[in-house]
Amino acid sequence: MNVNSSSALLAVPNGPLQISDLPPTSLGTIDQDIYLSLVIPTYKERDNIQNVVKILTQTLDEYIPGDYELIVVDDDSPDLTWEVAQSLTSKYQQLRVMRRQGERGLSSAVIRGWQVARGRVLGVIDGDLQHPPEVLTQLLSQIVQGADMAVASRHVDGGGVSSWSAVRRFLSRGAQLLGLILLPGVLGRVSDPMSGYFMVQRRSIVGATLNPVGYKILLEVIGRGNVENIAEIGYVFCERKEGESKVTWKQYVDYIHHLIRLRLSTGGWKRLSQSVEGFPMGRFLRFGLVGLSGVFVDMAMLYLLSDPSTLALPLTRSKIIAGEIAIFNNFLWNDAWTFADVSMRQQEWHQRLKRFLKFNVICLAGLVLNVLVLNLVFNFLISNRYVANLIAIAFATVWNFWVNLKLSWRVTDVK
Ligand code: GDD
Ligand code: MN
Repeated sequence: MNVNSSSALLAVPNGPLQISDLPPTSLGTIDQDIYLSLVIPTYKERDNIQNVVKILTQTLDEYIPGDYELIVVDDDSPDLTWEVAQSLTSKYQQLRVMRRQGERGLSSAVIRGWQVARGRVLGVIDGDLQHPPEVLTQLLSQIVQGADMAVASRHVDGGGVSSWSAVRRFLSRGAQLLGLILLPGVLGRVSDPMSGYFMVQRRSIVGATLNPVGYKILLEVIGRGNVENIAEIGYVFCERKEGESKVTWKQYVDYIHHLIRLRLSTGGWKRLSQSVEGFPMGRFLRFGLVGLSGVFVDMAMLYLLSDPSTLALPLTRSKIIAGEIAIFNNFLWNDAWTFADVSMRQQEWHQRLKRFLKFNVICLAGLVLNVLVLNLVFNFLISNRYVANLIAIAFATVWNFWVNLKLSWRVTDVK
């Protein structure tokens, strides 16, 4: 065989998006299994792909030489990314390339790559060097230590983003919040459910029929797979070297569609037990005590503002002002006590301000819930405004704790 000839393109699997439990031989692949199969989904990455393959090879040759493969899955890029990748196969023996011409989409591309993979561990990394390759060895060591899944997260220590605009970061966090409401049992299990950079033991997803839409392959694997313990490694989402992001509004619409489909097919709560596993009871009690101090602040302000014997302002307006003052009180205590272990590592004033704004947005959503429950209970159930307010505050406290915990008190560093 001419050593300079690049190897043939991989046959594209069709049918259901299911991962087989044995290295596939039916697709004519070599049948000895290897440790890691890393899929690189590409669309118009012509100018990045050579660099990506070179750096990934250097990183993995050091760590697991000869025991991994790289699988580029390109969706027939108009810039012929697949052709450039294929030309690299003569130099990089562990590189294999798939050109899809019918099906499209990041998530399904990853799964089709995993379907032809020979690895006992299946991974995905972007093909534009925004996911730092050096994190691979940390993810792998988590898997070697027994994790079913290892996720690179922007929202744990060492995590951050480099070049995203405030709008993109706000949309990403907003999408995460929506997911926490619709699918707490799935999104509640990781700090960065939007991550497109992770590895999973093949055995954890064997047999599951995956049915993703759009970009969020991680949700699909956690939602439909059998993933028990998940490890997270902080990483900084880097700037693109070449080309541009393919994320458009369509990906956000796909995301909502994906959440609803996952919710309907998995019930959304099926893994709630796992997402509350190791529930931080001590932290919840501290949060509850801080909330209690907020209750006194809230009640005292509600009395001063709305009681007929004081300012007698309208109930809802008084409630909103009292609620905001209580939120400020609670933030100060939570930042200094409940989440002190997190806040002490982010002492700069702009980080503290971002924490307060994030806490405020979450608690304002909780205040809306609080006002709704207060009016519901006061007008239909218990006509004592203070008892009704206590019940409403209890609901809001659980919401506030859960969302603050899952969106993590830590603010995403912008490097
Ligand atoms: N095969 C295929 N098909 N690949 C695709 C497609 C597609 O339709 N769309 C994008 N890709 C590839 C890109 O070529 C790139 O390698 C990778 O998927 C990520 O696409 P980007 O367009 O660069 O996404 P991003 O950088 O804005 O967002 C990424 O990072 C986020 C944070 O981790 C994505 O991975 C997001 O899913 C992730 O939330
Ligand atoms: Mn990118």
